[in-house]
Amino acid sequence: MFKNINENISLIEYLFKNNSETKEQKDLRELSYKTFGNIANMQVTPEQSSFLSFLIKIGNYKNILELGTFMGYSTLAMAIAVGDSGHVTSVDKDIKTTSIAANFWKSTPYANKISLINGDAKIVLQNLINEQKIFDFIFIDADKSSYKYYFETCLNLLADNGLIVFDNVLWKGKVFDQSINDSKTKAIREFNNYIKNDKRITTTMISIGDGMTLCKKKQTSRS
Ligand SMILES: C[S@@+](CC[C@H](N)C(=O)[O-])C[C@H]1O[C@@H](n2cnc3c(N)ncnc32)[C@H](O)[C@@H]1O
Repeated sequence: MFKNINENISLIEYLFKNNSETKEQKDLRELSYKTFGNIANMQVTPEQSSFLSFLIKIGNYKNILELGTFMGYSTLAMAIAVGDSGHVTSVDKDIKTTSIAANFWKSTPYANKISLINGDAKIVLQNLINEQKIFDFIFIDADKSSYKYYFETCLNLLADNGLIVFDNVLWKGKVFDQSINDSKTKAIREFNNYIKNDKRITTTMISIGDGMTLCKKKQTSRS
């Protein structure tokens, strides 16, 4: 019945050793912790960043949108994964963290693969829709209470067969503890319920890092 291994320090160290990071990725991850201490825990783990890269490579995704840049650790992983012809657009309202991120990217060969948009994600998404932009891979890691809104809006920005990945869907286990009912936990719980039977997508939820849900958009039928 229970096959999962409980997370412990040996498992985390083993995952670290077996998921390779480039020197730039390692330097940026360490810079985040040096600058922000435990707040840097909000960036994806190395195995999550390796997983995102893997998804991008096997799907041959080239046009990536990210909501929630922070220090640009996941952004950098995706910019490396998209290869020469790909591009990552990353959105965050925080000028302070993203200016450090942009500075760091400049010290790598990947700065020209990344466009940073500073602003509230809801407004930026509306602008991208108005500009008729289409992405084939969208990584959503901004404010959790807006996940349902981001899902609905991002479906309009996603190519057929494109993939949306949501981070933090397990919310440190709070979603399955019915005694916890703060607004963020409730929002993620509602979001998880909302998408699980959605006919427009094929979806799966996995326990990696703080939990990720993958949604593949089905081909739109054209008559
Ligand atoms: C979990 S962090 C992103 C971590 C990053 N994806 C990584 O793994 O390296 C979430 C980020 O979302 C940003 N954010 C939160 N609400 C937002 C909003 N409404 N619009 C834009 N950015 C937002 C925060 O400023 C924060 O930097």
